[in-house]
Amino acid sequence: MSESGADLVVRGLRKSFRSPPVRALRGVDLTVRRGEFVALMGPSGCGKSTLLHLLAGLDDADEGSISLAGVRTEELGAARLARLRRRHVGLVFQFFHLIEHMSALENVALAALVGGARPAQATARARDLLDGLGLLDGADELPGALSGGQRQRVAIARALANRPTLLLADEPTGSLDSDGEAEVLDLFSRLHRDGATILMVTHSREVAGAAHRIVRMRDGRIETPDSGAPATTEEPLTAGAGRG
Ligand SMILES: Nc1ncnc2c1ncn2[C@@H]1O[C@H](COP(=O)(O)OP(=O)(O)OP(=O)(O)O)[C@@H](O)[C@H]1O
Ligand SMILES: [Mg+2]
Repeated sequence: MSESGADLVVRGLRKSFRSPPVRALRGVDLTVRRGEFVALMGPSGCGKSTLLHLLAGLDDADEGSISLAGVRTEELGAARLARLRRRHVGLVFQFFHLIEHMSALENVALAALVGGARPAQATARARDLLDGLGLLDGADELPGALSGGQRQRVAIARALANRPTLLLADEPTGSLDSDGEAEVLDLFSRLHRDGATILMVTHSREVAGAAHRIVRMRDGRIETPDSGAPATTEEPLTAGAGRG
């Protein structure tokens, strides 16, 4: 099956909201292969955030299937699903959502703790991550003392705390100035070079240019044929991967 190299396979995903009644997702099909860096674009209200929330397990779909790292999530009970998501998915938001009264280090360590690390391990992991992202100097600072770009890098460190195989980012540069944007995009590019699989929502063509494939969404569906094409030539394109 050509999906064996996929980190994420979404089929027929539907989601409606009741008040007001909105069909936010109307049958989303999407494949993201291991090691791909995909930008998800589309007009406001087309369902991008709803899709990311479902992928991250923040909300449940009405219909359809999501496979993460080869596991069909709908076949799992709540506890195993939570564990799978904790292990495989990291989520980054536009407005960071850091805990403001905790230091950068504590924000990252908390995620590792929630992921099952012991306190000493969690702190060590957080320190390593911040060090790797060039943030060790700000480790003891509260988020409010950091620049936007630094805050988002802390949020990315937090998303990486449990070594996820898939990094989801919802307009991660949407509230940053151009320096912050460049910082965050450099970091994503580096993570991608190191093998991370990234699905990033953005409204900016420039930002999307950092990705290796652009997927367009409209009215609750993926508009571009979902080729599931590999991001790089390292992974040969499997015959018949085109669908849609
Ligand atoms: N919790 C909710 N309750 C009701 N409607 C919602 C809810 N969340 C999203 N919607 C609606 O679902 C549709 C898709 O919203 P979504 O936030 O996914 O769009 P988006 O593509 O992320 O837009 P943007 O680019 O503005 O962030 C919109 O019509 C939105 O108003
Ligand atoms: Mg959105």
